[in-house]
Amino acid sequence: MYFLDNYEKISIIICFAGVAKLADALGSGPNVRKDVGVQVPSPALKGEVLKTIDIRADFPCLKRERNGKPPIYFDNACMTLKPSYVIEKINEYYTQYPACGERSTHWFAKEVDNAVEESRFLLKELINAEDEEEIVFTKNTTEAINIVAHSFPWEKTDIILTTDHEHNSNFIPWYMLKKHGLIADYIPVASAADNTFNLDHFEDIVKKYKGKIRFVSLSHVSNLNGVYITDNEIKEIVKMVKNQHDDAYVMLDGAQSVPHKRVDVRGLGIDFIAFSIHKMMGPTGIGVLYGRKELLNKKLLPFIVGGGVVNNSFFNKDPVFFKAPYKFEAGLQNYAGMIGAGAASRYLMRIGVENIESHEMRLNKMLTDGLKKFDEVEILPPRDYHKRSGIVTFFIKKLATKHDDDDVDIDEKLNIRANIMIRKGSFCVHSWYNAYKKYWDNFFPGFRPILYRASLYGYNTEKEIDVFLDTMEGILKELDDLPSL
Ligand SMILES: Cc1ncc(COP(=O)(O)O)c(C=O)c1O
Repeated sequence: MYFLDNYEKISIIICFAGVAKLADALGSGPNVRKDVGVQVPSPALKGEVLKTIDIRADFPCLKRERNGKPPIYFDNACMTLKPSYVIEKINEYYTQYPACGERSTHWFAKEVDNAVEESRFLLKELINAEDEEEIVFTKNTTEAINIVAHSFPWEKTDIILTTDHEHNSNFIPWYMLKKHGLIADYIPVASAADNTFNLDHFEDIVKKYKGKIRFVSLSHVSNLNGVYITDNEIKEIVKMVKNQHDDAYVMLDGAQSVPHKRVDVRGLGIDFIAFSIHKMMGPTGIGVLYGRKELLNKKLLPFIVGGGVVNNSFFNKDPVFFKAPYKFEAGLQNYAGMIGAGAASRYLMRIGVENIESHEMRLNKMLTDGLKKFDEVEILPPRDYHKRSGIVTFFIKKLATKHDDDDVDIDEKLNIRANIMIRKGSFCVHSWYNAYKKYWDNFFPGFRPILYRASLYGYNTEKEIDVFLDTMEGILKELDDLPSL
């Protein structure tokens, strides 16, 4: 029996086209999920434009100031900020019942067990899994993907498909399987010219290797440029992959999708999804592997083994593993993380991931339109904000972006001048960056730009976008005397 948190401090002030408050509109009725105390948006309200999601008061770090200015946090694809609600839940574990779970029967241990299982329930609700037992706690997305890669019974003839813009965490595990000769091949399927997912090309590859494709693992939303695979495309992929091989499976890397959009694992028909709680307002060091129950129990044999995963062990015969999810959670666990994950999940559901998605889309439009006005700035395709989640990656069409070695780069200038925090680099998608030399050569032979990424979340505001664009304008003016492409 799970009971509701009496946490009414979450102040959701969501205005629709300046008229009604979503919170009022959803105060009661069939769309209020009473079982977890969360509200999901009424279908009748879908498609309306959100004006504000005012949850900022819940985030203590947003109250900070440096040089008289507030923080402007646009590094959400890397890590999101944490609301008081989540922090308090973690604190509660450490101050009230800091014991181990799933082992002891005493007072504190029971409280840990209850809190952890409640978290599993909330995460199951978040992604619409069938059963709490399908929620395996991991360290992060990376570990979740590795669990599948190293626990699946591969055959040497198997082929694995991904996209060509995967995070290293959804690339290296598959690459290593091939390197160790455990599978026949690993194929990163090329995207369309504008970097979006190319379903037709994907279908061609599936047809070409019919009967050999055993596993597909795709970034649901790319951390490189925010490109996403639509629900309909995923359903098509699942159909295609399962039609060509009756023992083939589809996994999504949901690190950038679960925190930002409605993900319904049963509706999509996928077999596995991996995501990280630190990207959805929860603590670090905790992630989730969702897998269909029968696959977790009958198909995968855990590779991290030891205490906590077996019911019994013998010197001369195989250990007796617990059923999922426990057979994958070896050793004493990150209980504070697990409990924080449940709190983050509840908080996210209360806001409504759809509301976050539409809010990000609106801010993304502002940011994209603003950046397009600067001649020196090129947005990494697709330029159309509709095709991207709340991520804008861009580069500067200048042969150098620093005046000299003593000068700081653009990301640092944004940080110093206006407390704007963005990310620079290859975002762990080195393989794509290295493979697409031709794309850069279109601008200038040998040109390899520095990529900058601004990534948004529900607590970001229009005002922050304005400050970003104004600060960028000033920085770009200073680069006037650098040679353009
Ligand atoms: C698409 C994607 N996949 C995987 C990861 C890895 O996540 P983690 O470092 O939490 O394991 C990230 C992190 O940025 C990501 O964006």
